Amino acid sequence: MPKNNYPHRKILVTSALPYANGPIHLGHMVEYIQTDIWVRFQKMCHHTCYYVCADDAHGTPIMLKAQQQNITPEKLIEETYRQHKADFDAFEIGFDNFYSTHTDENKQLSESIFTKLQKAGHITTKQIKQAFDPEKKMFLPDRFIRGECPKCHAKDQYGDNCEVCSATYSPTDLIDPVSAVSGSTPIEKESLHYFVKLNDFADMLKNWTTAGHLQEEVSKKLNEWFEAGLQDWDISRDQPYFGFKIPGTEDKYFYVWLDAPIGYMASFKNFCDKNEVDFDEFWSKDSQAELIHFIGKDIIYFHSLFWPAVLSGAGYRTPSAVYAHGFLTLDGLKMSKSRDTFITARTYLDHLNPEYLRYYLAARLSSKIDDIDFNLEDFTARVNSDLVGKVVNIASRCSGFIKKRFDNCLSMSIFDTALFQQFVDAGAVIAEHYNQREYAKATRETMKLADLANQFIDTQKPWVLAKDKNKDQELHEICSLGINLFKILVTYLKPILPILSQQAECFLLITPLSWSNYQTPLLAHTIQPYKPLMTRVESKQIDAMMAQTKAQSEAMNTENTLPNSHLEKDPISPEISIDDFMKIDLRIAKIVRAEHVKEAKKLIKLTLDLGGETKQVFAGIKSAYKPEDLEGKLTVMVANLAPRKMRFGVSEGMVLAAGPGGKDLFILSPDEGAEPGMKVK
Ligand code: 2FM
Ligand code: ZN
Repeated sequence: MPKNNYPHRKILVTSALPYANGPIHLGHMVEYIQTDIWVRFQKMCHHTCYYVCADDAHGTPIMLKAQQQNITPEKLIEETYRQHKADFDAFEIGFDNFYSTHTDENKQLSESIFTKLQKAGHITTKQIKQAFDPEKKMFLPDRFIRGECPKCHAKDQYGDNCEVCSATYSPTDLIDPVSAVSGSTPIEKESLHYFVKLNDFADMLKNWTTAGHLQEEVSKKLNEWFEAGLQDWDISRDQPYFGFKIPGTEDKYFYVWLDAPIGYMASFKNFCDKNEVDFDEFWSKDSQAELIHFIGKDIIYFHSLFWPAVLSGAGYRTPSAVYAHGFLTLDGLKMSKSRDTFITARTYLDHLNPEYLRYYLAARLSSKIDDIDFNLEDFTARVNSDLVGKVVNIASRCSGFIKKRFDNCLSMSIFDTALFQQFVDAGAVIAEHYNQREYAKATRETMKLADLANQFIDTQKPWVLAKDKNKDQELHEICSLGINLFKILVTYLKPILPILSQQAECFLLITPLSWSNYQTPLLAHTIQPYKPLMTRVESKQIDAMMAQTKAQSEAMNTENTLPNSHLEKDPISPEISIDDFMKIDLRIAKIVRAEHVKEAKKLIKLTLDLGGETKQVFAGIKSAYKPEDLEGKLTVMVANLAPRKMRFGVSEGMVLAAGPGGKDLFILSPDEGAEPGMKVK
């Protein structure tokens, strides 16, 4: 898509917001990589294209996870944000802004959108009955109720579906239901809920969903939903809930799915304010800009019915397009936390180059919503053969002669202009494939060219010409053409391989490659000596990644929490002053008693002797220690931490421990000679 030939586009692009209570995994990465490639391509065509995202920070699971960890939800989402951001950066996901839904901008926008909907008469209230945990005094989302499947009688199934026989039902159908939060039997309780009257938007939605904003297969699916009838959408949740309070109420909160998509706007608002970009130009009813959402196929309903309804009801523009993709399977198996198929982004990064995955997924992605299989053997073969064996190999085959024989300077003319032109011409088709999200086709076309370049070198045999002094010019021109063909290939792969492209730009000593500047060959141009641009995937790297994933899944299955090995990789916290440090009173403590705390999954109650003074501390170390093994041990504690009231009593300090969690948790123990009460300096 050469500059000038196409009208300038203004595009705002989003990827779905990841929940702030778990790590980014490779299933997530399909979407961020798919979106990032598209955005990088548009930027390479000189369009104005902004890419925003945020952490989805609200809801019951986040509130409960924070409680489980004895931290505030704010603390939990802050920690998660750092980890998510680090993972995205490592995978070169080039967000223009990565924000959070728990922000002032999102609160204001959510409140104002709700108020506009209410004023326009699109909100109604109804009393509804729901499962309630009498002990925790909270309403229970379906996923937090477990019991026996009414169909196949499998035990311990979720409130909305059975993992064994795949039946779907309502929580009231479960046999012997229990609250997954407290273990008590849920009761039914009534409360007032707020609803968006989706039917008000029936005509608008029927038009919008068939007007080319959606993939064909998605449009068809929506038609089935229309036929089933549009129900009012419940957008409120009762306290306790982590979210934004509904204006005019004391105990009702916006359901996370109301303020999550508004998070797209909030993240962009935050970006606009920092960069003097006009927010309204992208969101007002008469906006000429494009608004494009990339999502997974599981959240189509939210993005193609609720979201356009909310936007239009509140007087905003509706999306130009919603592009859904399929799920990622691993060697044909569903990625599941309870199996060994749940590879986190961090685990992958611990062993493999992020661009391998970017390339592999690109080579498998189309504009359809089919699932994609991450086949480990195919992954290795494809990366090694395409990227290392074909593309990078061209540069390494030609650059040696250019350096040794021609002082790193390329020839003055092109050896085979037809071949060069063939490479240039392929750009239009490849560009259209990118634009249509047909990345598999784009990579296939590019690899066909790479094959041609290698065949050209094989036929010309520069290593033979190099032996004949009279063939110097031919040798020079052939190798220079090889380098020029390599440059075009790198341009075509640049949306997928930003790191490799940047290294190639340094090697070629050129300004950033774009879709408007690759057509001219480099002639009489000096390049840098070649350094290897990419190494082969080794099977031992894959084995190590899978072994780590297995270990995490085992730890997780015993703990029933998400893998937390990323904590091992926690970056160092922000700097503190020596004064801050001096405030912490660390003492040697002797564990005189250690007792189980009934009902607490993770806690052990410790009675600690500090050389005369005794303190009681609840420590979350049950997964790693038996109480009887702790008694008599010395450890280190924060002795001046303000006492905290917990469900089981007051905790008067904190025992220091290290490790990722689960079985791998180690309380610190001082060397022999330390005495209870000694200050740790
Ligand atoms: O399904 C999810 O993971 C949600 N957190 C996606 C939210 S996307 C958007 F609408 F905010
Ligand atoms: Zn069942």
